[in-house]
Amino acid sequence: MIILKNVSSITGEVFDYEIASDETHIIDAKGLTLLPGLIDPHVHFRTPGHQYKENWISASKAALFGGFTTVFDMPNTNPATVTCQRLKEKKELIESQLKESGFPLRYHLYFGVDKKHFDEIEKVKKHTIALKIFMGTSTGDLLMDDDSSLHAAFALASAHDLLVCVHAEDEAMIEENTKKYLGSKDFKTHSMIRTPEVARSAAKQAIDLAQLYNTRLHILHVSSKEEIDCIREAKKKGIQVTCETTPHHLFLNTDSYETLKGQAQVNPSLKEKQHQKYLFEAIKDGVIDTIGSDHAPHTKEEKAQEYGETPSGMPGVETTLPLLLTAASENKLNIDDIVRLCSTRIQEIYRLAPNDDVILVDLEMKKTVDDSHLNTKCGWSPYSGTQLKGWPVYAVMKGVLYNLREGAIC
Ligand code: DOR
Ligand code: ZN
Repeated sequence: MIILKNVSSITGEVFDYEIASDETHIIDAKGLTLLPGLIDPHVHFRTPGHQYKENWISASKAALFGGFTTVFDMPNTNPATVTCQRLKEKKELIESQLKESGFPLRYHLYFGVDKKHFDEIEKVKKHTIALKIFMGTSTGDLLMDDDSSLHAAFALASAHDLLVCVHAEDEAMIEENTKKYLGSKDFKTHSMIRTPEVARSAAKQAIDLAQLYNTRLHILHVSSKEEIDCIREAKKKGIQVTCETTPHHLFLNTDSYETLKGQAQVNPSLKEKQHQKYLFEAIKDGVIDTIGSDHAPHTKEEKAQEYGETPSGMPGVETTLPLLLTAASENKLNIDDIVRLCSTRIQEIYRLAPNDDVILVDLEMKKTVDDSHLNTKCGWSPYSGTQLKGWPVYAVMKGVLYNLREGAIC
């Protein structure tokens, strides 16, 4: 049994909380707030193929120390997760890495939709959390931007009652805009190519397909007012659409290129400052359903290259919760919102059963993000040097207590 003495609920009530366990621990939790073990529904842990950037040994510790006891991993690995066999092989690799890490994270895997492998969808339907469609190019070689394939994929997903998660950026528009800025070495160009309109156009197409085929659609990493308006309207019409945003779209913007340069390059791109306000408002009014870190590590060296050479993506699984708790301390959102965005709404959308995992957060703890303290293998964060207020200090995952302050298993 694990007993958390004098722990606080989100609403401030103080009580003792017991968790079934083979271990015996009595923790003085005075001043700490109890939250569910959080779910990160959007990570790229790079296994197989890019394990020099990240693997599940480093990433499982990074996730747990970030307050997440469950993650959903993306299929744009090398090779990509586009067949039943590859899904099985990926699971075996992950299992062995989790054994080695000592942090047995709960996880689920996305299945990448690829027009050459439509017949695999039926085979994996019991083994995948959702389908992922890249409507625009990003890291890896997964892309499905032709109309007939998109129609077929949405129809199939509906027939098998699978959730479709989309990376919504319009590839034709990206190509067109890329031509305009050919040869530019300025990182700001990235946001001029991948504009709000690029994101809106693909989101609208996905919504139309969801309506046509009655498919459950979740639009990932929504970054702009344009997408929000489109999704709000679709929800009003009763179309089965939900959406996610990310910490970097909430907390960074196009000004960030000045200081972060290539580290700020991400797909969908960072948007102008005014979009951040819309995203916070859309959290408040319930248009945004979930938050995913979109933890997409690349090495410091890769990100230090010139624009055009740098890969898109940034790590985030360790900083998501402290960023959100800091925003809560500034009254930009409530702790309730964090639980909804990072746990309960994810369970509803992805149809995931709840579990007993919990975390304890110290809402008063201030700590500066420091590359040397990070667990991610890539060893950097766009927030390094930023002081954040509110950090997870304990986690109970699968009945085992972890002391996150000491970086140790209890
Ligand atoms: O910036 C991104 N990086 N966006 C994606 O869609 C993929 C990700 C990655 O895997 O690096
Ligand atoms: Zn992603």
